[in-house]
Formats: sequence, structure tokens, C-alpha cells
Amino acid sequence: MGLRAVCIDEKFQGKGIGTEFIRLLKRYLQKHFPSFPMIYLTVNCKNIGAFKCYKRGGFADTGFLYLGGEYGPQHVMRMELK
Ligand SMILES: CC(C)(COP(=O)(O)OP(=O)(O)OC[C@H]1O[C@@H](n2cnc3c(N)ncnc32)[C@H](O)[C@@H]1OP(=O)(O)O)[C@@H](O)C(=O)NCCC(=O)NCCS
Repeated sequence: MGLRAVCIDEKFQGKGIGTEFIRLLKRYLQKHFPSFPMIYLTVNCKNIGAFKCYKRGGFADTGFLYLGGEYGPQHVMRMELK
């Protein structure tokens, strides 16, 4: 499964909502999509805030970079769902 276009309302960014969303997402996916073993996303290497949010929420950096985006290299991250 892939995750894309995560966005928290600008007025509420930096309050821990994104991190908490990612933490809750794992349980939600385990319950509603039990056949998926993991979830992937890509995040722009310049987007330090989003990278931290995903890491704290439970995603791991795979160490691979996706180089096909229009805005520069992106980290490939994944979270186990099993
Ligand atoms: C990235 C995003 C989803 C994170 O959600 P959030 O609720 O703002 O993040 P959290 O409050 O859980 O904080 C996670 C880290 O990101 C940092 N952060 C959040 N917004 C930031 C911003 N605009 N600039 C720099 N750092 C930011 C936080 O400070 C925190 O790090 P810290 O505790 O070391 O300071 C949210 O900021 C967002 O929607 N950003 C715009 C869209 C975007 O970049 N989406 C990701 C595309 S892959």
C-alpha cells in the first residue's frame, strides 16, 4: 500500500497532529486492510519536518532514494503492518 498527499491544515502544523495521525494510521490499516503487509511513502529530502513526523509515527527509512520526482530526491520509507 502507498501513502501520498498527507497534509495538515497550515494553522495546525507543528502541534503533533501529523505524528499522532501516523501512529493511529497503523492501527486503522491493520483493522481495515489486514491483507497488506506494509505501507510505503516517499518524502522529499528537503522536507525535514515531514521526515521526522513519519519516523516518529512509526515509518522506517529504507535507505533508498526515489529520483523520479519533479522536486528532487525523495526518501523511501516503510512501516510494517503485520
Ligand atoms: C508534514 C506534516 C504532515 C507534519 O504534520 P505536523 O502535525 O505539522 O507535524 P508534527 O507536529 O507531528 O511535528 C513533526 C515535526 O515536524 C516539524 N514541523 C512541522 N511543521 C513544520 C514546518 N512547516 N516546517 C518545519 N518543521 C515543521 C515539527 O516541528 C516536528 O519536529 P520537532 O518536534 O523536532 O520540532 C505537516 O507539517 C504538513 O502538512 N506539511 C505540509 C505538507 C507536507 O509537507 N506534507 C508531506 C508531504 S510528504
